Amino acid sequence: MPDIINLLPENIANQIAAGEVIQRPASAVKELLENAVDAGATEIKLFVNDAGKALVQVIDNGKGMSETDARMSFERHATSKIKNIDDLFHIKTMGFRGEALASIAGVAQVELKTKKAGETVGTYIEIENSVVKLQQPIAMNEGTNISMKNLFFNVPARRNFLKSNASELRQIVDEFIRVAMAFPSLFFSLTSNGQEVFHLEKGNLKQRIIQILGNNYSAKIVSVNEETDYMNIYGFVGKPETAKKTRGDQYFFVNNRFIKSAYLNHAVMNAFSEMIPKDSFPMYTLFIDIDPSRLDINVHPTKQEIKFEDEKIIYAFVQSAVKHALAQYSVTPTLDFELDPSIQQSEAVSQPFTSEKQFSATGSSLYNTFTKKNQAHFIDSKSDLGTWNDNLLKQNNLEPPFPKDIKDRMEQENFSSASFKNSQQAKTNKKPVSEEYLQIQKSFIAAENENGFILIHQQNAHERILYERFTEALTGKPIAIQRSLFPTAIDLAPADAVLLVELLPDLNILGYQVEPFGNNSFVIQGSPADVADGNEKDSLEKILEQYKHFNMDISFSKREKLLRSMAWQQSIKAGTFLSDKEMEALVEDLFNCNVNNTTPNGKPVFLEFKKDELSKMFGR
Ligand SMILES: Nc1ncnc2c1ncn2[C@@H]1O[C@H](COP(=O)(O)OP(=O)(O)OP(=O)(O)O)[C@@H](O)[C@H]1O
Ligand SMILES: [Mg+2]
Repeated sequence: MPDIINLLPENIANQIAAGEVIQRPASAVKELLENAVDAGATEIKLFVNDAGKALVQVIDNGKGMSETDARMSFERHATSKIKNIDDLFHIKTMGFRGEALASIAGVAQVELKTKKAGETVGTYIEIENSVVKLQQPIAMNEGTNISMKNLFFNVPARRNFLKSNASELRQIVDEFIRVAMAFPSLFFSLTSNGQEVFHLEKGNLKQRIIQILGNNYSAKIVSVNEETDYMNIYGFVGKPETAKKTRGDQYFFVNNRFIKSAYLNHAVMNAFSEMIPKDSFPMYTLFIDIDPSRLDINVHPTKQEIKFEDEKIIYAFVQSAVKHALAQYSVTPTLDFELDPSIQQSEAVSQPFTSEKQFSATGSSLYNTFTKKNQAHFIDSKSDLGTWNDNLLKQNNLEPPFPKDIKDRMEQENFSSASFKNSQQAKTNKKPVSEEYLQIQKSFIAAENENGFILIHQQNAHERILYERFTEALTGKPIAIQRSLFPTAIDLAPADAVLLVELLPDLNILGYQVEPFGNNSFVIQGSPADVADGNEKDSLEKILEQYKHFNMDISFSKREKLLRSMAWQQSIKAGTFLSDKEMEALVEDLFNCNVNNTTPNGKPVFLEFKKDELSKMFGR
């Protein structure tokens, strides 16, 4: 059997955006799973111990490697997947840089067992700190079994930089899901510390979505399927009613590669506009198949960002395809799959990708930034690509995704500049003077104070009160808990289960007595006294959703996000009738808060109407 791995010539190696391949256990998971897929495996098993810090192991039944290739695979720029610069524009495999195994071997202890079809013995190699410790023949079945042990054992500073096990495991699950979702016809499993977390039988895409995201989607997804000469789009989107407060369940794959693209996400969101509430996110799992020469995946070391030859066309296709799917299932009344004629006639659709274009792509500043800056071992987490999507949007005169969302938040943060200036002091002297309150529209409470009267927003007020109460609980002031008479079971999608485990210690202090029950199930034994009996499950689910919503905002700590999510979730909503006693308690609690005039997110809690100003308005 011939060997297949070659060293890339230096000029090609230098053009590849290699960057820092292994940053955490999840990066190794991604690389090893992708190698197994590229090797044509039909069964791929992932094992992790200690959230991958102690062990990341992938066993596949793919084509294996010869003895020479096994040894070669750890060399930098050693790959069987491309040979020349042209190949960079026709990539059909997940890998192409010949970097991953070399990087892994540089920061961990690695054991590789591999056997090629038709060979009698396999090869066993132990490598540590890039040095081969042992190489010998081994008897085994066809395929590859590779273990990465003690990541960063030789770079303690980086090891210390890793996050908690719960957090690293969650990232592993994310990477696992991205690969497993892209290849539903392959078997995947994930076992963490000896416990099988995922067991995904071979099937079709719909089955895979349900295996991963949960059964509640089974009757609630709509298939998207459009084929054109330029590209195909297929996959599923959730019906509008399944939209959630979180962006979690959104997947885009281009030629089976998971990508992050605010731009394409915007296209889907546009197709859903008016059908879902703002601030909510529909599920989607969409695949774009396109001639690889029409894109450049070599723009980012993790390959999760790509550059399309013509983004506008892709945008229009994605948006129309999703609209069309929603219309066909009469989820929306309009049918709108006519492509803009200017796009149909545009050069990119009708003309092949010429060598000039290829040259101009590789000569672009974007390409150069990447190829120069992100060489192997260049460690810089703030890559220039952060602004890539912004530039795209600018070039195409598009609004950034969720402009309202971001604008709202900015406004909240700069709230002091607005008309509520004088209510900005942390503690105000606006306190009501009498205990007679009037509830208006089941949403506001009017109360007289020294200067005139204040109008309190009941939900915002309660959010502030709960936020301070929860903050105190975390610093040791116990919270009132009710034990459930009948413990409630709660089943979660695997990724949510991992998240819940991460939050359990804090949730416990905050009054949720929840215990893992195995198999992504939990039992709620008790909940904060404020939560109405029977609502424990619902309220916990909503907290998770809200938390994931906040999760996009990296400026908050995990605890802060949890506190805010819980305060928001448990606050009495506008539209709830309040008795005199309840209003009294609410106002008293509010004016005992450290800050009483804004919610944790900066929304006003009350407005003051001064007698003098009111008189003036009446011409007095
Ligand atoms: N599980 C596997 N089964 C068979 N061959 C493998 C396996 N893993 C790696 N190889 C071989 O080792 C080579 C090097 O792997 P490595 O992941 O380092 O690079 P790559 O996949 O070519 O590119 P990239 O760095 O983009 O992942 C691959 O090109 C492939 O030939
Ligand atoms: Mg690889």
